[in-house]
Amino acid sequence: MKAFFPNLRLRCQKSYAFIWNMKESLLACKQAGLQARGTGLKTIVIASQKGGVGKTTLTGHLAVEAERQGIGSVAMIDTDPQGNLSGWFKVREAETPALVRVLPDGLRATLKALDDAGIDLCMIDTPPAITESIASTVAEADLVLIPAKPSPHDLRAVGATVDIVERAKKPMVFVVNQAVARSKLKTDAVRALSQHGPLAPIDIHNRVDFAASMTDGRTAGEIDPKSAAAGEIAELWTYIATRLERVSK
Ligand SMILES: Nc1ncnc2c1ncn2[C@@H]1O[C@H](COP(=O)(O)OP(=O)(O)OP(=O)(O)O)[C@@H](O)[C@H]1O
Ligand SMILES: [Mg+2]
Repeated sequence: MKAFFPNLRLRCQKSYAFIWNMKESLLACKQAGLQARGTGLKTIVIASQKGGVGKTTLTGHLAVEAERQGIGSVAMIDTDPQGNLSGWFKVREAETPALVRVLPDGLRATLKALDDAGIDLCMIDTPPAITESIASTVAEADLVLIPAKPSPHDLRAVGATVDIVERAKKPMVFVVNQAVARSKLKTDAVRALSQHGPLAPIDIHNRVDFAASMTDGRTAGEIDPKSAAAGEIAELWTYIATRLERVSK
């Protein structure tokens, strides 16, 4: 085992043993030709300068959903000092998707280590800011997901995040979060966002299930797989997976 992962120094925030177990199961899966597809790590950065638009909620939900839909092994990284994703993971019973720390050598080295370990997808949550650090995180993305709430303030704030993504020449996709069905605000949001770039054709609506799941360590889909919230996340991931495939070619 050691020879197979000679440089792996990743540490799962839940337990050191876990990442080791994950390596063993990855190896077993590889040998069986299962789960870990080993097609190379893909990285999705969830970013928005605006606070409270759903970055953390969507990071957790999409990571779990990507794994459920069979992308392979999924890791999450919390780059936000607020630590909301880490807080959610701490109360989570399931050990996957793994939450990993950024190595002292930096994010690029961390992603390389994940790639070497056969991880297929890494979802990175970011703080609500426009900083050098966000720019360098975005620079590592294969795809940047920008959630936006359908409110005039949020829509105005989107430009600063888009600038960072465009400067890094990274593909991006918007998603409307906390949408209220048939409201004029949503129509305005769709119009405003689609002027900047591609917009996911699935809105995530304002649902108590999403808020409740973040205190519970699970996702809305894990709590109730038949819920509307679960359905929206499943459709959103299916769309994002298609985009990811397209930008990776
Ligand atoms: N679709 C939704 N429906 C209902 N509540 C939601 C939804 N999405 C997010 N929330 C709630 O809105 C709040 C903000 O969400 P979240 O923490 O994911 O945003 P954020 O962009 O990560 O915030 P920050 O910028 O502070 O990191 C949380 O209480 C979360 O539970
Ligand atoms: Mg957050």
